[in-house]
Amino acid sequence: MSPTRTFFVGGNWKMNGDKKSLGELIDILNAAKLHADTDVVCGAPTIYLDFTRQKLDAKIGVAAQNCYKVAKGAFTGETSPAMIKDCGVNWVILGHSERRHVFGESDELIGQKVAHSLAEGLGVIACIGEKLDEREGGITDKVVFAQTKVIADNVKDWSKVVLAYEPVWAIGTGKTATPQQAQEVHEKLRQWLKTNVSEAVAKSVRIIYGGSVTGATCKELASQPDVDGFLVGGASLKPEFIDIINAKQ
Ligand code: PGA
Repeated sequence: MSPTRTFFVGGNWKMNGDKKSLGELIDILNAAKLHADTDVVCGAPTIYLDFTRQKLDAKIGVAAQNCYKVAKGAFTGETSPAMIKDCGVNWVILGHSERRHVFGESDELIGQKVAHSLAEGLGVIACIGEKLDEREGGITDKVVFAQTKVIADNVKDWSKVVLAYEPVWAIGTGKTATPQQAQEVHEKLRQWLKTNVSEAVAKSVRIIYGGSVTGATCKELASQPDVDGFLVGGASLKPEFIDIINAKQ
């Protein structure tokens, strides 16, 4: 966490919930005392974006969990940034590991989605992260730098981008990266941005951590100098999400 970068906590509800359970969660979030100086965004399933935006307090942002790379056309089943914006939703999560590794999205496609989403005025939570065999093979830096390069090549305005470092081995496994492991990669990513984009961007871009973040692990992670917030899956569906939003001391 840095004194100059606004702490950012995203929830990623994935393909979970229904109007009843998400409605109850939204009621809890609306009633909660949240740090005023933390940006909060909830990633809702596409079909519930409109519902979520209508029910959730305006101080909490909403994100789509994916979108397509063009505005409209014969792309059955896809959703465009224009449609997302039309629901009053201002963010999209792109490059999530499940999109990459379950649905086979390439770096190239993710880059195109980033470019088009930004051009349409959405903020982008751009996800990167190594798999377990890549970490064990000592190529974490190589993998995350390559993923970041494709994202960076498609960004003109970094003020609309949050970079989410989510080691794949930590997502949904209960194995949170240690604060040291997260800080090490975040620091290297910031250095990469300094070398390859600019010093100003390196200083200002929020780099958030995702992967089994819980109420119990969030505070120590948040105390790391280059951890500017979280992207939270499982715990974002529970009242515990409030503790994570308020993790910054
Ligand atoms: P998790 O998911 O918190 O359930 O590990 C994180 C994510 O996929 O963004």
